[in-house]
Amino acid sequence: MSDVIHLDVAANGVGTLTFDLKTEKVNKLSYSIMMDLKAHLTGLAQRDDVRVLVIKSGKPGVFIAGADITEFQSVDTPEKSREVVDMGQSVFSMISDLKFPTIAAIQGVCLGGGMELALACDFRVCSDSPRAVMGLPEVNLGIIPGWGGTQRLPRLIGLTAALDIILKGSSVPGAKALKLGLVDLCVPDAFFDDRLRQFIGLVADGSKRKALLKRRKKISWADSFFLHRWLVAHFAKKSVMAKSKGHYPAPLAAIKAVVKGYGRSLKSGLEQEAKAFTPLPLTSVSKNLVTLFFIQESLKKYTGVSDATVVPKRIKNAAVLGAGLMGGGIAWLLSYRDIQVRLKDIAWGAVAKGYEAAYAVYKQLLKRRRITPAQVSQKLLKIAGTTSYHGFKKTDVVVEAIVENMDVKKQVFQALESEVSPNTIIATNTSSLSVTEMATVLTRPENFVGMHFFSPVNRMPLVEVIPGEKTSDQTVATIVDLSKKLKKTPIVVKNCPGFLVNRILIPYVNEAVACLQDGAKVKEIDTLLEAFGMPIGPLALADEVGLDVGYKVAKVLEEGYGDRMAVNPVFDAIYEREHLRGKKSGAGFYTHSKAKKTVNAEVQAIVAGFKGASAKVSLGDILDRLILIMVNEAAKCLEESVVESQELLDMAMLLGTGFPPFRGGLCAYADEIGIQTCVDKLNRLSDLYGSRFKPSSLLVQLSKEHSTFYTR
Ligand code: NAI
Repeated sequence: MSDVIHLDVAANGVGTLTFDLKTEKVNKLSYSIMMDLKAHLTGLAQRDDVRVLVIKSGKPGVFIAGADITEFQSVDTPEKSREVVDMGQSVFSMISDLKFPTIAAIQGVCLGGGMELALACDFRVCSDSPRAVMGLPEVNLGIIPGWGGTQRLPRLIGLTAALDIILKGSSVPGAKALKLGLVDLCVPDAFFDDRLRQFIGLVADGSKRKALLKRRKKISWADSFFLHRWLVAHFAKKSVMAKSKGHYPAPLAAIKAVVKGYGRSLKSGLEQEAKAFTPLPLTSVSKNLVTLFFIQESLKKYTGVSDATVVPKRIKNAAVLGAGLMGGGIAWLLSYRDIQVRLKDIAWGAVAKGYEAAYAVYKQLLKRRRITPAQVSQKLLKIAGTTSYHGFKKTDVVVEAIVENMDVKKQVFQALESEVSPNTIIATNTSSLSVTEMATVLTRPENFVGMHFFSPVNRMPLVEVIPGEKTSDQTVATIVDLSKKLKKTPIVVKNCPGFLVNRILIPYVNEAVACLQDGAKVKEIDTLLEAFGMPIGPLALADEVGLDVGYKVAKVLEEGYGDRMAVNPVFDAIYEREHLRGKKSGAGFYTHSKAKKTVNAEVQAIVAGFKGASAKVSLGDILDRLILIMVNEAAKCLEESVVESQELLDMAMLLGTGFPPFRGGLCAYADEIGIQTCVDKLNRLSDLYGSRFKPSSLLVQLSKEHSTFYTR
C-alpha cells in the first residue's frame, strides 16, 4: 500500500480513512491510489470492530479534487475507457456496500471523482468555508461522471437538480449543497471537527441514523413517472442544443445516462453510465478540452519572463488615464479587485461617464446577486475621479486608455512621466500602436509596457502584455502578476501591428467582407461561422465592436503587412458613411433596434456596386477562406515568435475571440483537418482569390515533415 491513504480505527469503533497525497497540493485519484483505496476497503469489509467510517482529507482546503487527468490522456481505445469506468465504479460500490455507515467529511474542494466518492458514502458533512465546493465538472473535459455520479446524484437530490449540476459542470458551496440535499450537514469551518464528532455520534446510533435518513426527502415524487422523466430529458436536451449547437457530445450523453438509469436498480443504472461514458474520452472534443485544461493549469505558473529570479512588484495604488469605454471598464476592474484607483480624464463630464460605466457593471453584478449593495458602495469608494495629476506620485501603475493617436499618446506620456515616481509602471491599453515607438519619448522606457484589455473589460478574460524593445523583465512580470490578480489571463506577445489576437482576427473579418464582394450574403456568412462554433458571426462581431474601431485596426495592419492585409474596398466604402458604425450607431452590416437586428439593405446596396457581387461563392469556400486565413496568420505569428507557443496562441484566440473550445484552437484545428490539407486548400484559395492565402513557411515545412503543431 502507498502512503497516501491512512487508516485509523479508534477504540470506540470510529474508523478514519485520511487521504493525503504528500507530493501534490491537492488529492487526486490516480490508478494506484484507487488500488490503494480498494485494498483498504477489502480489509475494512472484513472487520467487525468498525462502527462508522469517516473519509476525510489530510490537506487543508482540499477534500479530493478529482481523478488524475494526466492518466486519463492515455485512454486511447474503447476497451481502456471501459476499464477505467469499471474500476472506479467497482471501488466506489465497495464503499456503499460496507456493512457499517460511512461519512464523507468535506472541508475543502470536492470535485469530480472526489464528489463521486462522497456520493458513495451514506452521509456527507461539509464545511461552510468558501473553499469547500462540490461539483461534477466532467462535461468541461468532454466526458461525463463515470464513477457513479450520474446515478447516485439524481437518486439523492432528484433529476432536475442533478442534471443542473452535471450539465453546468459548475460547483456549489456548502450552504447550497445543504439546500439541495447533497450534504446532510453544513457547519462553520471553525467548529468543523466538533460538529463532525457530534454527527458521528448520531450516525453510530441506529435509531438516530434512521431519523437522519428519513429527513432526507428532497426528491420530487414526479421523478418516479416515466412521462415526467421524458419531459425533463426533453427540455434538458433542448437547452443543451440551444447552447452547444450539438458540438459537445458529453452533455447529451449525461442526460441519457441520468434519465435512462433513473428508476432502475443502481447496478443497471451504473451499466447505463458506463455505456454512455465509454466513447467520450476518445472524441477529439474531449482531447481538445483536456489539452486546454492543461494549458490553463500551466498558465497559473506563468510569469511572462524566462528569468525565474525576477520578482513582480506589488500593486497597491493604480491610476487610469481616460475615462471612456475602456478606461471606465479598467477602473471598475481595479476597484472590484480592491485596488485604489485614480481615474483621470480631461473634463469632469468625461470622468462622470467613466464612473457611470463602472457603476453599470456593478449594477449587473447586483442584479445577478454576485455582490451586495454594501460591497458596491465600498468598492466604488476605491475609484477617485480627477482631472489633474494630483496624487499620481503615489501610484504603482498607470494604465493609459485615451484616444488611439500616436502623437497625442506621446505628448501625454511625456507629461505623465514627470508626475509619477521613478518606479511607477506606465502601461498602455493601445489596440494597435507600437509600444516601442511610444516609449521613445520616455526617459524610463524600461517602466513602459503594453497592457491590452479586450472589450468589454468585465467579460473578456484575456490581457495581451506587450513589452517594447526596452521594457524590463520586472515591468513585464509585474503586469503579468497584476493581470492574474485581476483574475484575467495574461499572455505576453510581441510588439507587432495588431499584436497577436487582432492580427489574426481582423483578416478574418476583412475576408468576410471580401466574401460579400464575391456574392455571399451577410446572414449566410454569419450563420455558417456560427455553425462552425464561433459565438457570433464575423459581420455581427464587427457591428458589436464598432466598424470604425475594427476599420482603424485593419488600416494599421494594411500599413504594417502590405497587400496581404489590404483592406477590402467594400469595407472602405462602408467606413466612409459615418452613420454606419455598427451597433452603437444603430446600423452597420445589420440595423439594430432593441427588439432585433436585421440585415442592413444599405450595406447590400453598397456591395452591389462592386465588381463580382453577382457571382456566387460556395459555402465550403467561405468557411475555408475565413478559417484558413486565420490558421495561416497564426502559423506566421509562431514563425515570427509573436507568441511563445501554439498552446498560448490557441488559448489567446479562445479567450480573446471566443474561438470554439471544442475545436481546441486554430493550431489544434489545423492538426485535426491535417496540415497537408491546410496547405493544399490555401494553395487553391491563393490561385482563386489572391496571394494573401499563400501558405506560410511554417505550414509548408510542417507538411513536408508530415508533422503537426501539437505532439499528442
Ligand atoms: P474612448 O473614446 O471611449 O475614451 C477615450 C477617453 O480618453 C475619453 O473619455 C477622452 O476624453 C479621454 N482622453 C483623451 N485625451 C486624454 C488625456 N490627455 N488625458 C486623459 N484623458 C483623455 O476610447 P476607448 O474606446 O475607451 O479606447 C481607449 C484606448 O483603448 C485606445 O487606445 C483604444 O485603442 C484602446 N482599446 C479600445 C478597445 C475598444 O474596443 N474600444 C479595445 C481595446 C483597446
